[in-house]
Amino acid sequence: MTKTDVDISVDFAGLKLVNPVFTASGTCGYADELGDFMDVNSLGGFITKSITLKPRKGNPTPRIVETDAGMLNAIGLANLGLDRFVEEKLPVIAGMSVPVFVNVAGELIEEYVAVVERLAREDTIAGFELNISCPNVARGGISFGRDPRQVSEITSAVRKAAGDKVLIVKLSPNVTDITATAAAAVEAGADALSLINTFTAMAIDVERRRPVLANLTGGLSGPAIRPIAVRMVHQVYTQVARQANVPIIGMGGIQYANDALEFLLAGASGLAIGTALFVDPRCILQIRDGIADYLRRHNFSSVRQIVGLLQVGG
Ligand SMILES: Cc1cc2nc3c(=O)[nH]c(=O)nc-3n(C[C@H](O)[C@H](O)[C@H](O)COP(=O)(O)O)c2cc1C
Repeated sequence: MTKTDVDISVDFAGLKLVNPVFTASGTCGYADELGDFMDVNSLGGFITKSITLKPRKGNPTPRIVETDAGMLNAIGLANLGLDRFVEEKLPVIAGMSVPVFVNVAGELIEEYVAVVERLAREDTIAGFELNISCPNVARGGISFGRDPRQVSEITSAVRKAAGDKVLIVKLSPNVTDITATAAAAVEAGADALSLINTFTAMAIDVERRRPVLANLTGGLSGPAIRPIAVRMVHQVYTQVARQANVPIIGMGGIQYANDALEFLLAGASGLAIGTALFVDPRCILQIRDGIADYLRRHNFSSVRQIVGLLQVGG
């Protein structure tokens, strides 16, 4: 039930979104794959699975396992690559009214730049989300996203390639201080930040005395990570994003409207839903409607009034 008495639209990096709810990258395909379950055009924004310059098969299986209140994935950026994305998915995206943000990944800065340069020409793309949590082979196997200097370097390079498209930088939680990487991205020209990606984690099959995932480790997502994600959004909002006037898309374990409200109060203007879609894809619209109900119950007229409204102390 969506009522019009409260305004759930948000201003997001120069765009007006009908509501704050996004899909989280990697959980909804590239375009309208979830069309049988929901109308993706009723979302605030659609974020595609990561695209790389060349197609990738990803990691060997098993590459997904359920954990208590979450899951581990080690998909390894399996994707169809830029050329097939342009041929097969862009025409579908052209028929979608929701703003679409292409999540871009790679092993070298030049690969990110090449993908963004190609797609920046497309009117149907609203912007990009940079996945900087994947291994940077050329620089010794660490992630771009762990080192503020590398975050700055990749953000500035892609900023130029992105032209006037919205540039969202997606932060890794696998760092000591997420405000340092957030500040680096903002200073280098990010229009928005999204946080968080998954936590590096592992599970062991004790009978076989083997790792459950063929890749040994995977990324932990789902409700298990939510309190840490909320803390990180609060830190990034209060220490970096609020003064820079840069919106945050909060994510990590959002399953119900109440979870989404925690992120809004902590300072997120947008919310992305990932793992919960594997339980029930329609939860995403229930979350949207639950936010409107909360506003009504608490006599707010707009969702914008509650962004960062967390009261701390006496
Ligand atoms: C199966 C799976 C695949 C994912 N693939 C990507 C991806 O391709 N690129 C990316 O930036 N994040 C990817 N993520 C991370 C999510 O977008 C999100 O940041 C994370 O899962 C936390 O949100 P959640 O707890 O709601 O899932 C993936 C997550 C899952 C569970």
